[in-house]
Amino acid sequence: MQRIPEPEELMDAPEQAAAYAGADFSEPNQLFVELIEAQAGAPLRGEALDLGCGPGDIALDLLRRHPELRITALDGAAAMLAHARQRLVQAPELGPRLALRCATLPDADLPAAAFDFVLSNSLLHHLREPAVLWHTLARCARPGAQVLLMDLARPASPAEAEALVQTHAADAPPILQRDFYNSLLAAYTVAEVEAQLAANGLAELSVERVSDRHLAIRGRWGEAA
Ligand SMILES: C[S@@+](CC[C@H](N)C(=O)[O-])C[C@H]1O[C@@H](n2cnc3c(N)ncnc32)[C@H](O)[C@@H]1O
Repeated sequence: MQRIPEPEELMDAPEQAAAYAGADFSEPNQLFVELIEAQAGAPLRGEALDLGCGPGDIALDLLRRHPELRITALDGAAAMLAHARQRLVQAPELGPRLALRCATLPDADLPAAAFDFVLSNSLLHHLREPAVLWHTLARCARPGAQVLLMDLARPASPAEAEALVQTHAADAPPILQRDFYNSLLAAYTVAEVEAQLAANGLAELSVERVSDRHLAIRGRWGEAA
């Protein structure tokens, strides 16, 4: 099936952000946390960058689990970050280790070679130009940084996409079902992501399917394949 880009890059409409922030993504979020812990070995320590953090659930979970981790969590949608700030009100003890930044890639003014972890969930398929993610990664990661970028993987057909919506979001509000369907159509395949990595000098990272609807791009940046 041919890729159909997302109608909008940012999830900045208040009702869209509210539907996303109110949804239960505990299963993929837990998968993300398990993958980075297995890859890096717990406890995680140092500076992490979470690109396209949305309402911040993964960042907050990682901070709770890893007391020596600090996270810069960035999103271009003020509406999404408002939900992250609300969640932080419930967990003020995490505030000193979380920097929430409203900035849109590629225009975010991020420090170079500053992060021990570069993380992202469900951002790649949103970007109009995917190279923006690869350039940000290569600029911001410290040599040897742990990288985990998880995203949806494009199904083979619209019918398969619809079936995934029914399997995982049958009870979700229509706006969320629509966004999930659009995201599946906008997602990349493993082969497409491998080609992007090769074209951007990141062939040391690997790409694999990690669930019926997700792929993960992982490895240590700046290390030979
Ligand atoms: C599907 S959400 C994922 C949110 C979060 N990572 C999660 O797993 O719950 C994608 C997020 O990426 C943000 N985004 C899209 N394009 C962006 C860009 N160019 N710069 C910064 N954020 C962006 C959107 O606003 C949205 O909040």
